[in-house]
Amino acid sequence: MAKKVFITGANKGIGKQIARQMGKNGWTVLVGARNEDRGLAAVRELLEENIEAEYLNVDLQDLGTIAAAVCAIESRHADLSMLINNAAIPGDMHKPGYEFTTGELRNVMETNFFGPFELTRRLLPTLEKNNGRIVNIAIPIGRLPHFNPFAYKTSKAAFNVMAQSLAQNFTEKGKALEIFSIMPGPTTTDLNGNIIGEHVKTDAEAGRLIAGFILDGKNHNGELISTTGAIVDYNHGLF
Ligand SMILES: NC(=O)c1ccc[n+]([C@@H]2O[C@H](COP(=O)([O-])OP(=O)(O)OC[C@H]3O[C@@H](n4cnc5c(N)ncnc54)[C@H](OP(=O)(O)O)[C@@H]3O)[C@@H](O)[C@H]2O)c1
Repeated sequence: MAKKVFITGANKGIGKQIARQMGKNGWTVLVGARNEDRGLAAVRELLEENIEAEYLNVDLQDLGTIAAAVCAIESRHADLSMLINNAAIPGDMHKPGYEFTTGELRNVMETNFFGPFELTRRLLPTLEKNNGRIVNIAIPIGRLPHFNPFAYKTSKAAFNVMAQSLAQNFTEKGKALEIFSIMPGPTTTDLNGNIIGEHVKTDAEAGRLIAGFILDGKNHNGELISTTGAIVDYNHGLF
């Protein structure tokens, strides 16, 4: 199996750290990003660390860029064997759900669910040819007293269903594909205003944790892996 991975949102935060860890383990990394300057800067950083990396423009809110990225992969990277759906936005994490407009909710759903779904769907033929894997970076969507961001949780709930349901399809249809989810737990990044705290990881720690599960040699199809390595239910509320 070729070791080539496409990671969305790999220009910063957890995505860039997953890219670094995969690269250190001999993987070629296609750095998916909206912002070209930041994407190219991330690629330069990785190249300086002797990691094979290339920038691939993708805006998950723009079907045109998704189609173009898939086209580039089919023509130049037909040996792609892994997609990591990492990019996401939180929306307003503090206002109550009933204050959201449908437009605001749709905006978060576009990035966190419809975009990743479209990218995954279009890459399935390539990934299947290569016994490929899809990894979703997830959050807990169950009831938690201090974590109730409406749009973020709603969109990630759909994203979790996507992983759980497709995994079942792959098994039932005997497809040479695997899809599973990993929850890194609270991590200091731009997404949460760079929160810090006793139980909050650095992005580098999150990247190492995630890569550790990806590279452990096990089949994880259909699993939702928590930060402790426990396999939990998809409606689970624990970090
Ligand atoms: N941080 C946490 O505590 C935490 C906990 C659990 C799970 N996660 C998950 O970890 C993943 C990475 O988040 P992070 O914390 O590293 O956040 P981050 O630093 O804000 O990074 C988010 C990434 O997503 C990209 N992105 C946003 N909108 C996009 C779009 N429309 N198209 C393409 N890329 C887009 C951003 O690119 P731009 O530079 O173009 O904006 C950026 O690369 C997310 O799935 C998040 O839900 C995070």
